[in-house]
Amino acid sequence: MKKKVAVVIGGLKGIGKAISLDLIDKGFITYATTREKSAAVNIENLVPVQVNVLNEKEIQDLFTLISEQHGTLDVLVNNAGIGEFKAFEEFNSKEWEDVFRTNVFGMFHCTQNAFPLLKKRGGRIINISSFMTKRSLPTQSVYTASKQAVSGLGNVLAEEWYKHHIFTTNIQLGATYTDIWKDIEGFSSEDMLQAHDVARVISFVAMTPLHVRMDEITLTPPKGVL
Ligand SMILES: NC(=O)c1ccc[n+]([C@@H]2O[C@H](COP(=O)([O-])OP(=O)(O)OC[C@H]3O[C@@H](n4cnc5c(N)ncnc54)[C@H](OP(=O)(O)O)[C@@H]3O)[C@@H](O)[C@H]2O)c1
Repeated sequence: MKKKVAVVIGGLKGIGKAISLDLIDKGFITYATTREKSAAVNIENLVPVQVNVLNEKEIQDLFTLISEQHGTLDVLVNNAGIGEFKAFEEFNSKEWEDVFRTNVFGMFHCTQNAFPLLKKRGGRIINISSFMTKRSLPTQSVYTASKQAVSGLGNVLAEEWYKHHIFTTNIQLGATYTDIWKDIEGFSSEDMLQAHDVARVISFVAMTPLHVRMDEITLTPPKGVL
């Protein structure tokens, strides 16, 4: 049987890397993107591709490559994301633009480019959003606003594209231990989810047959908000 094809945007670091490896373990050929020039990865069924989501041409080239090599796509994971955390009055508009260009416009371009491939035999879009869309905290203004946009678009796509057998799942994700937490004091990795916990759930969604719709999954460590 032909292997299924997945693409993980931001799939070679942190949570995205765990997702890429778990999808491969579950039998997917996985295209994993990074902004780095020559990602030296030698793992069977893992295809590293250089993509900066701020660059529309690189996104187009990624999906052209998948089209040429497979002609179809089963799963898109919109995982790439950045954050900036401080009091709202300290932000400037460039910082807001940077976060929105990566988290929201990046997702917009990847999802639009994936559409013709996903449409061919149906598929899934999995958006790594945030638990901050449900429980607001100080210093998280731009990050929360951007993830609200991610989840909002995901919700609308779930209504627009089910007719193409394309199902969108927003993952409302709580604290997960990755490099972004390394230098932040006052938090213990033991209180957080681990990247492989998230990856296991993403693979479950990716492998679920296309007559099942899963619009939203909330994943947090036991304490909920840290
Ligand atoms: N960790 C948490 O507690 C947590 C909680 C909720 C949601 N999330 C979300 O989970 C996702 C992954 O976070 P993480 O904790 O794994 O952080 P991370 O280790 O900093 O990973 C961020 C990922 O985004 C990619 N990325 C950033 N800017 C990009 C750009 N302009 N173009 C392409 N790729 C870009 C990075 O790729 P390269 O650097 O390789 O280019 C990297 O793979 C993010 O969307 C984040 O908001 C994280």
